[in-house]
Amino acid sequence: MRYDVADLPTHLLEWYDIHARSMPWRIGPADRASGVTPDAYRVWLSEVMLQQTTVAAVRDYFLRFTEIWPRVTDLAAAEDADVMAAWAGLGYYARARNLLKCARVVATEYDGQFPRTREVLLTLPGIGPYTAAAVAAIAFDEQATVVDGNVERVMARYYRVETPLPKAKGELTELAEGLTPAIRPGDYAQAVMDLGATICTPRSPACGICPWMEGCAARRAGVAPDLPRKAAKAAKPVRRGIAYVAQREDGAWLLETRPAKGLLGGMLGWPGSDWGDTPTASPPVEADWHEVPGEVRHTFTHFHLRLQVFAARVPENFLPHRGEFRAAAEFSAGDLPTVMRKCYDLASQHGDII
Ligand code: ADE
Repeated sequence: MRYDVADLPTHLLEWYDIHARSMPWRIGPADRASGVTPDAYRVWLSEVMLQQTTVAAVRDYFLRFTEIWPRVTDLAAAEDADVMAAWAGLGYYARARNLLKCARVVATEYDGQFPRTREVLLTLPGIGPYTAAAVAAIAFDEQATVVDGNVERVMARYYRVETPLPKAKGELTELAEGLTPAIRPGDYAQAVMDLGATICTPRSPACGICPWMEGCAARRAGVAPDLPRKAAKAAKPVRRGIAYVAQREDGAWLLETRPAKGLLGGMLGWPGSDWGDTPTASPPVEADWHEVPGEVRHTFTHFHLRLQVFAARVPENFLPHRGEFRAAAEFSAGDLPTVMRKCYDLASQHGDII
């Protein structure tokens, strides 16, 4: 059978009509066909959450957010601290700060209605080329090309692009644009991502059941698992720091909200030292500090962090130089970003304070 690239979207959409993954924010192909339209707020929220994060990790966060804030105007009216706490654990916290900014712009400047085109979506806070294309395509069926890691992998393999990433990005985007159909671009965008996530997977692609197997150049050459090639990444440096976990006699915890700018900006955390080669001790309150055995390890985008944790119990009349005591009833370790939750877990494992 002769294979025509013009037929690729049709083959993929036929596959998607049967195999689309079910997701709480997704309008499945059958519902779409019967006229159900996606809610742009839910599409936008899910796409922001899904950047750098897996579908499995996002699911519960998405359900919680949409339960608490069912419309963009509800989110726009939320307290910053509540949104940051609900985001805790998802990582890349700048996304949450921009999420709120964007919700407020949509609520106040667009009357609570998301703009319908990629071009205007791009002007909103925190919306870059990926999110703009995803919302325009999925929510409004604009013929916009959505390119994430899955799509790059599928294109690199189908067309056997040997240039390593990130250099190949432009070329892979052009190839993806060349395939985006005018009909059902929203379903098509989700179909390519599903294909990459379920069949054209990074290590062992299931080429035998792929709807695009026939024309795939990497499969023909037997190199699919090796693509896309990636330029060697620089090794991440190790930084060190100290975190201070203090609990008052009445059960309150000494916490601080981190500055809005910078890593974990706007998130709740334990007071601590700077993170670097040789951190300087900087206890936030005079106390009988105990070094907690072990250390917390956490990896950020650009470095590995090792934290030494000190714990103390402090009397009720002690005033901290930094941070504020938060009553036990108003504190949940789940409100902390993961690295800070690990400090809490380590301190809790040792009976010193809790
Ligand atoms: N990854 C990110 N967004 C997605 C979507 N809408 N469908 C499938 N996978 C995705």
